[in-house]
Amino acid sequence: MDRLVVTGGLGFIGSNFIHHILSNRSDLRVANVDYEGPSSNPSNTSDLRRNKRYRHLKGNLAEPRIAKWVAKNADLVVHFAAETHVDRSIANPRPFLESNILGTYNLVDALRNSKSQRLVHISTDEVYGSANDGESFDEESRLDPSSPYSATKAASDQLVNAWIRTYKVPGMILRCTNNYGPYQHPEKLIPKTIIRGLNDLQVPLYGGGMQVRDWIYVIDFCTAIEKALEKGEVGQTYNVSAGNELTNKEVVQRILRQIGKPLSLIASTEDRPGHDVRYSLSSERARAKLGWRPRHEFEHALGLTVKWYRENENWWRPMATRKTLSARPWKERW
Ligand SMILES: NC(=O)c1ccc[n+]([C@@H]2O[C@H](COP(=O)([O-])OP(=O)(O)OC[C@H]3O[C@@H](n4cnc5c(N)ncnc54)[C@H](O)[C@@H]3O)[C@@H](O)[C@H]2O)c1
Repeated sequence: MDRLVVTGGLGFIGSNFIHHILSNRSDLRVANVDYEGPSSNPSNTSDLRRNKRYRHLKGNLAEPRIAKWVAKNADLVVHFAAETHVDRSIANPRPFLESNILGTYNLVDALRNSKSQRLVHISTDEVYGSANDGESFDEESRLDPSSPYSATKAASDQLVNAWIRTYKVPGMILRCTNNYGPYQHPEKLIPKTIIRGLNDLQVPLYGGGMQVRDWIYVIDFCTAIEKALEKGEVGQTYNVSAGNELTNKEVVQRILRQIGKPLSLIASTEDRPGHDVRYSLSSERARAKLGWRPRHEFEHALGLTVKWYRENENWWRPMATRKTLSARPWKERW
């Protein structure tokens, strides 16, 4: 049985990915290395406590010895671990440099002398910056990040590429659009709208919500990562997108309609500094070379997500403090 090490597997996408892999791949066992930071939730994987193919190790990749442990114990690595909340990166960028840049450096450097066969580094559409109307970024587009978060993700991509070329680390990069689905932190747009809407609270929308984002259901991204582990080419970058471009306002309106709440709950707030207007990716390479397709239609999977948050109040209630539901989170420190 191959050993898959997932970093950041107590977060949103990582925990969905671990459940997906353990259900679909009996040939793999999984170790999850996560430092249990502010966006993590240990209950995301508490159902796996007795699973013999799963183990969790608390560790910070910003410490070289943790990265060395990963390199020594992995046949395959999927690297999710990062600080991810853009508003928090504006309030306090340093933890983003430590996790996203130093953590990734420690990992790739440890992997250069290891027997690991593959590293999939998880990145974001935000590294390309804002797209003009009608424009879609491909993997050769220039990196032009706007926020401290996306700048550290772009830096981590560049480190991965340099370690692939210089030290033959068997890595590849997946850059994905906005994910939604179960286990996403209540600070993020879709969970925040569901939770505030269900509680009859105003739903704040930065600058009127005209920013366009391309949404992908988290399970569709998990299948793309699985395909990359199987068929991805070392040294290659793959964009992953599902073609659901919507303004934030449209997304919020659809959620409020699904939960039967009035659109008058929407409240426009001061815009986030450096807020990109539109993200758009071409995922032709992933579709052609990995044989990947998204399977979930947006409105349906949004309904599955709403249902999950309705049924799992015990999960989100402890995380949904006044601060995490603040209307102007970039003003807050964490
Ligand atoms: N959520 C999205 O829509 C989206 C879209 C594209 C790309 N991504 C990328 O996918 C990855 C996962 O995103 P997410 O939304 O699941 O994030 P998340 O914030 O929910 O989870 C990140 C996890 O990484 C852990 N972590 C952070 N720094 C660490 C460190 N130094 N050592 C060990 N663990 C550490 C945290 O404790 C947390 O559990 C990130 O790399 C992110 O940039 C996310």
